[in-house]
Amino acid sequence: MKENIRPKVLVSREIPAEGMDILREHCEVTVGAEDRMLKREELLALIPGMDGLLSMLTDRVDGEVMDAAPGLKVISNYAVGYDNIDVGEAYRRGIAVTNTPGVLTDATADLAWALLMDAARRVTEGDRLNRAGGWKEWAPMFHLGKEVTGSTLGIVGMGRIGRAVAKRARGFDMKVVYFSRRRKDPKEENRLGIRYLPFRELLREADFVSLHAPYTRKTRHLIGREELSLMKETAFLINTARGGLVDEKALVEALKAGEIAGAGLDVYEDEPRLSPGLKQLPNAVLAPHLGSATRETRGQMARRAAENIVAELLGEGSSTRVPP
Ligand code: DGY
Repeated sequence: MKENIRPKVLVSREIPAEGMDILREHCEVTVGAEDRMLKREELLALIPGMDGLLSMLTDRVDGEVMDAAPGLKVISNYAVGYDNIDVGEAYRRGIAVTNTPGVLTDATADLAWALLMDAARRVTEGDRLNRAGGWKEWAPMFHLGKEVTGSTLGIVGMGRIGRAVAKRARGFDMKVVYFSRRRKDPKEENRLGIRYLPFRELLREADFVSLHAPYTRKTRHLIGREELSLMKETAFLINTARGGLVDEKALVEALKAGEIAGAGLDVYEDEPRLSPGLKQLPNAVLAPHLGSATRETRGQMARRAAENIVAELLGEGSSTRVPP
């Protein structure tokens, strides 16, 4: 391909070499920033004239951004979630929107598991206590947690990541109940060892509720004051999906009041800000959005996001487009 007709791509923030190399081979690449997120005005200043945008989940890609780049043909999000993009607006303008499903399933399910184990067995809380000199001696009633093996896991959202979490639960002899927009067929339920329950019943029954639903207008605050009040006092909430699924203010109150036993969170309503009171709670494990953060997975996400742009701009292979 001639140098002067190479498509122009803006990568809003440097991604691993696995993706940068593919992009540089086929496109003229501008990197917005190496080690920080682009400010809104910087994104708006860099996007004019671009054919493709490789965006982060921290970039808000709306009509204003699209207005500034009338030639934009593809927005490739470096994430499986794409609630940061106005997808309807993009498709109205004929802009393809792609994401990176599949490659981060195991890393995210692993992290959900780490948070579940940590919250249940109070590992981070114990670490803090230990470092502060609070461990005096072994004692029969000291720092007791909740047994994971044999307990009931409630999975909300039975897509790829929900299924990967269910698979891990089998190793802990857990009963797995799930709620999903679409119920799986009985054969698949049997194969996965999962049982469907209506949402409110799942909340009442589960010892651990793990969220794996996409964030949309409909799922905003799926877990609020009322839903938390349905959960057992001994139950835990795990969220590795999107912060907006949970009404964080209601969660802080429920954790403070002991309405539920604890939470393991990786995502927040207004990242990286934490809702007032959350930091002070001993029964909340607070990870800084690490779901896909392994070297292997971030490399594969980079490759997939770059391949998506190249596929859309040069017609080389298929991309993973998000539904309109
Ligand atoms: C995603 O891909 O949506 C994850 O949140 C990234 O860590």
